[in-house]
Amino acid sequence: MHTAAITGTGVFTPSQIITNAELVVAFNAYADRMNEKNAEAIAAGEMAPMQHSSEEFIVKASGIEQRYVMDKTGILDPEVMHPLLRQRSDDEPGIMAEMAVDAATKALAQAGKTAGDVDAVICAASNMERPYPAVAIEIQKLLGIDGFAFDMNVACSSATFGLQVAADMIRSGSIRSALVVNPEICSGHLEWRDRDCHFIFGDVATATLVERIEDAKGPHFEILSTRCATEFSNNIRNNNGFLRRSRPDGVADRRDMQFMQNGRKVFKEVLPMVSEHISTHLADSGIASDDLKRLWLHQANKAMNDFIGKKVLGRTPEPGEQPNILQDYANTSSAGSIIAFAQNSDDMADQEIGLICSFGAGYSVGSAILRRHMG
Ligand code: COA
Repeated sequence: MHTAAITGTGVFTPSQIITNAELVVAFNAYADRMNEKNAEAIAAGEMAPMQHSSEEFIVKASGIEQRYVMDKTGILDPEVMHPLLRQRSDDEPGIMAEMAVDAATKALAQAGKTAGDVDAVICAASNMERPYPAVAIEIQKLLGIDGFAFDMNVACSSATFGLQVAADMIRSGSIRSALVVNPEICSGHLEWRDRDCHFIFGDVATATLVERIEDAKGPHFEILSTRCATEFSNNIRNNNGFLRRSRPDGVADRRDMQFMQNGRKVFKEVLPMVSEHISTHLADSGIASDDLKRLWLHQANKAMNDFIGKKVLGRTPEPGEQPNILQDYANTSSAGSIIAFAQNSDDMADQEIGLICSFGAGYSVGSAILRRHMG
């Protein structure tokens, strides 16, 4: 058995930002238009008027202040209310591949490695822009990597499940290194016309280089242990898929073809599942919560993270112990915990231990216990 380590990470951040203020103005303009259009039905009591969104609610309920997106013009146009992304020809790089290549290039540079040092690419994300050929294989080609590549999807937990797969292949000896990339265009599946969720997501891509520990050239994180768990739930669901055309009203503009969630239930059910998962993972690995220097959690909701941090550590986390990035990026699905890790791990001292944990639809939860090595 070999030991795997994270030797580099990279984050691609889109250039366009939508603040809560901009988002609420666009949503409220859309709601007013819809109410005007449906005035008769509303007056007849056949339809409820759409209610306005508010900045105060968004920050209070989620902690999110802004989000990065690949296209804000469509999202903020009350006549459109979704991103407008140009159709690319089959001979051009796809948009997910392009984002992932940027993040992967940064991860390789941080590790001091080149494409020739990589044996496999795993594209782990909540949505793929096409079923085949695998987006991962396109990324492999664009980077000039030999070996093999494949896509996988476990929604918000895709990155940690991908890390476990990469680490397991390295441990077993079938490969020496893998790039796990997480291009997340969450703006594509978010329902921007629903005030209950229109503020939740943003776009980003992350990449993590996992190698045999002896191949690390600089500071790195030994992967001490990984653990994944799933439990079926309909509380976060998206019914879009390749059978859409075959169903009677499948191509209609249906609400369930975008992200849907029962937020309150998710909150209530996922919190104990995740806290228990992390605590058991640490205990089974012989690590006391006092020995945990950092928690890089999934970035969906500030109150959720506060709760998990307190439950796992048995006290309120000190500032910096459980860094959040959701105020800037919103929920970026599987990429969130990796952004938190990439942006808040350089300062860790030799031998210090931290834990990455993502969770979400499925339900799913994945964790990785890491130990810092300075080189
Ligand atoms: N602006 C103003 N009011 C809003 C609003 C908005 N944008 N969206 C909802 N509201 C209203 C609701 O209609 C509701 O009104 P009511 O009490 O009259 O029914 C009230 O605010 C509370 O809404 P609720 O949905 O219960 O809020 P919440 O405190 O549960 O927060 C979430 C909503 C989504 C932020 C929260 O439930 C959450 O983060 N859940 C977990 C999400 C998660 O992790 N998902 C994983 C996705 S991968």
